[in-house]
Amino acid sequence: MTAPYTDMPQQAIHVELGARSYAILIRRNLLESVGEELTRLGCSGKVGVVTDRNLAGRYLKRVSRALKTAGYTVVPIVLAPGERTKTLRSITTIMDALVDAKFERTSTLLALGGGVIGDLTGFAAAIYQRGISFVQVPTSLVAQVDSSVGGKTGVDHPKGKNLIGAFNQPRAVLIDPATLITLPAREWKAGLGEVIKYGVIADEAFFEYLEQHIEPILKLDDAPVAQIVKRSCEIKAQVVSEDEREADRRRILNFGHTIGHALESLGGYRGLIHGEAVAIGMVYEADLARHLGLCGEDVVTRLCALVKAAGLPTCLPRVTFSALWRAMQQDKKVSAGTVYCVVPERIGSVRIVPLEKDKTRAWFDAARSRERVVTTKRCVR
Ligand SMILES: NC(=O)c1ccc[n+]([C@@H]2O[C@H](COP(=O)([O-])OP(=O)(O)OC[C@H]3O[C@@H](n4cnc5c(N)ncnc54)[C@H](O)[C@@H]3O)[C@@H](O)[C@H]2O)c1
Ligand SMILES: [Zn+2]
Repeated sequence: MTAPYTDMPQQAIHVELGARSYAILIRRNLLESVGEELTRLGCSGKVGVVTDRNLAGRYLKRVSRALKTAGYTVVPIVLAPGERTKTLRSITTIMDALVDAKFERTSTLLALGGGVIGDLTGFAAAIYQRGISFVQVPTSLVAQVDSSVGGKTGVDHPKGKNLIGAFNQPRAVLIDPATLITLPAREWKAGLGEVIKYGVIADEAFFEYLEQHIEPILKLDDAPVAQIVKRSCEIKAQVVSEDEREADRRRILNFGHTIGHALESLGGYRGLIHGEAVAIGMVYEADLARHLGLCGEDVVTRLCALVKAAGLPTCLPRVTFSALWRAMQQDKKVSAGTVYCVVPERIGSVRIVPLEKDKTRAWFDAARSRERVVTTKRCVR
C-alpha cells in the first residue's frame, strides 16, 4: 500500500487531566525528532524503546538515532509481534531488561508500535520501581486513534482480554502518520473500525465524512488520513478528560466491544484481530439495539454499509449463544453479574444498557433465523 503523503503542519491536541495532562502531537516524520520531543518533556538519561520485531526492522534504527543524537542512552527491548505477546510473561521480559540495564526512577520507556506494545509498555512503566515515565509513539491506526490515548494499559489473561492492568497516562503521544504506509492492509482496515466507532458514539458529521470519503481514506490519501486521526484523537481526548477512570462517560468508548471482546477471546486471540472483532461487535450491538426498540433500522443499515465499505467483516463467525454469553460475562464491563452494553440511539449518540439474558437470546435467535448470524458464508449482511 503506497501513499502520496505530502507535508502537513503539526496538529496538537491537549488531553486535559489536571496534573496528568499531556499533548498528542501529529506530524509527518515526527519519528525523526522524538529525541527533541523527549527533551522538551524534561526526560533525561536512559530510554527503553519497547517495540516488536515487525517495527524493529523498519523504525528502531531511526528512533534510536534520534534519541542518541539528543543525548539519550537507548535500550531496545524487542518482543514478538501480535496479541499473544500481551501477557505477564512479556512484562517480566521488560522488567528483566530494565533491571539489567539499571533503569532508575528518572528513566523513560518509549512504546514504538501498535496497541499491544503500547498497552504492555504503559503497564511496565506503571509498575517498574512503582512508576516511571512513558511516551507513546503509536505506529498502527488502532494505536494512533485509540489505544495510545487515555492511559489504559495492561495485559491479557487466558480467561479474558485486558484483565490485568493499570490506568497510567503517558507523558505525550507522538504520532507520525507516515508510519501507516507500512501497516499491513488488514491492520489498516481494522483501525478504521475504531474510527467509525467515534462517529457513532459522538459525532454524526464525522460519520458522514467517513461515508463520503471512505474511498480516498482506503487509498491512504494524506488529507483524509490526517483528518480521521486528528478527529478520532480529539473525540477520545474529550471523553477521557471527562472521565479518566471509566466511572461513567468513558464507557461509551466500549461501543462494539462487548461482543467484540467476546469474539476475540472465543477465537483464542488467533482468529479475528481487534478492530475486526469490534466492527462485527458494532454491527451486532446496533442490531441488538434495534431489536430492543432503542434505535431505528436506519442506524443498523448505515453502520453496516460503512463497515462493509471499509472492507471490514460484518458477520458473526460460527458461535453459539451460550458460548457468546459466557464470553461476554468475562468482560470487565460486567458489574454484579450484569452485562452492560453500549447501544446507539442514533448515529452520533449512544447509551449504556444492562442486557437481560433472555431478551438477548431472543435477539440472537431472531438474528440467526434471518440468516445474519449463522456462518460467514451464509451471512446475508
Ligand atoms: N489501551 C487502550 O485504550 C486500547 C484501545 C484499543 C485497543 N487496545 C489494544 O490494542 C491492541 C490492538 O492494537 P493493534 O491493532 O495496533 O495491534 P498490534 O499492536 O498487534 O499491531 C498490529 C500488527 O501491526 C504491526 N504493525 C504496527 N504498526 C506497524 C507499521 N507501522 N508498519 C508495519 N507493521 C506494523 C504489528 O507488528 C502487529 O503485527 C489490542 O491488544 C487491544 O486490546 C487498547
Ligand atoms: Zn478497541
